[in-house]
Amino acid sequence: MTEELPKTIHELETPCMLVDIDKVKRNCQRMTDRCKEMGVELRPHMKTHKTKEGGELMTNGTKRKVVVSTIDEAIFYADNGFEDIIWGSPIVKERISKRLINLANRLEEFHVMVDSLQGLKGLIATPLKEGKQWSVFLEVDCGYGRTGCLWSKEEAVEIAKTADDAPNVKFQGLYTHCGNSYTPDVEQKNRTQKETSDRLIALKNRLSKNGVDCKVVGCGSTPSCSKPIDNLSTLTEMHPGNYIFNDYNQVVCNSCTFDDVACKIATTVVSHKPEVQTIVVDCGWTAFGLDGPNENWPQAVLGRAPVEGHPELIMDRMTQEVGKMKARNGEIDYSKYPLGSRLYLYPWHSCCTASQHPVYYIHSGDKIVGAWRPTRGW
Ligand SMILES: Cc1ncc(COP(=O)(O)O)c(C=O)c1O
Repeated sequence: MTEELPKTIHELETPCMLVDIDKVKRNCQRMTDRCKEMGVELRPHMKTHKTKEGGELMTNGTKRKVVVSTIDEAIFYADNGFEDIIWGSPIVKERISKRLINLANRLEEFHVMVDSLQGLKGLIATPLKEGKQWSVFLEVDCGYGRTGCLWSKEEAVEIAKTADDAPNVKFQGLYTHCGNSYTPDVEQKNRTQKETSDRLIALKNRLSKNGVDCKVVGCGSTPSCSKPIDNLSTLTEMHPGNYIFNDYNQVVCNSCTFDDVACKIATTVVSHKPEVQTIVVDCGWTAFGLDGPNENWPQAVLGRAPVEGHPELIMDRMTQEVGKMKARNGEIDYSKYPLGSRLYLYPWHSCCTASQHPVYYIHSGDKIVGAWRPTRGW
């Protein structure tokens, strides 16, 4: 049964998530071309949208070579015919579930990441079906400080050697996220990229001296892969994800301009509160998520939810179902936002905002051309 969708974005009930298909296609094409020019493989991350359609566009229709953030996503993409999937979250023994073993047995290529001997030993102790090996990446921390074994630690060599020596493990190479490239400071971003790629290559060379070969050396975040320095060409693979939609955070980081932000939330003005100089919209944190710039982002002058065409407005607070907006100069001109009028909010963090929605309405100009339904869960 084909779904009856409204013809234009103006007929949709609010709040809802809009995705501009023309911008999505442009963002995907740019990243594909950039990787080709640099001579590195693109392995896009699916975490931002978690949809079949977005995955097809990001892989240029091949449905091969992706990263996912949860087991649920891995199963969803496998069920939709995708192959060569990395689960991009570190394995510990306790996470080796039946679902994980099934994926490793059923896919031609399914890869996991470890950043500890504990996790690796758990995999070594878990047999797969005959002829199958665990395909393993070492997650490396090159200075971001989230997950990953610190690049300079002796343990990084020990993990890689143990993986390489284990008969039921195929060691693939190195993976790092480079989340510390999220900065508006271009010089700092370039330094981070250089340091990250140099550290990865240094570790690769250390492993090589210890007899361990890295087939893949991958790095990637949207800020680094959107404005890569030449040094990233020394790697084999890039794995950004957010670029499919982009968001205000990427604008602030100089990854893109507002014109490249492909998603926004449509919301309706539901109340005027001149006594406290606010307008109230029907988009609260259930429709937007709570992620927003903090004191580390003084450059984010438009706040967590910039309004398309209205830089004078700022989202002051969000409760469950409403957002309270104020004027940046303190005084609202209510004639500009009549009750019932629509505003379009750009997300600060599109992964977070998208995760609040069971459906994304796909549009070209004002016309609705489809609906994407993401997978949800872990
Ligand atoms: C492990 C990993 N790889 C790749 C990415 C993609 O980075 P970005 O969201 O900046 O595109 C992320 C994002 O959080 C990640 O956690």
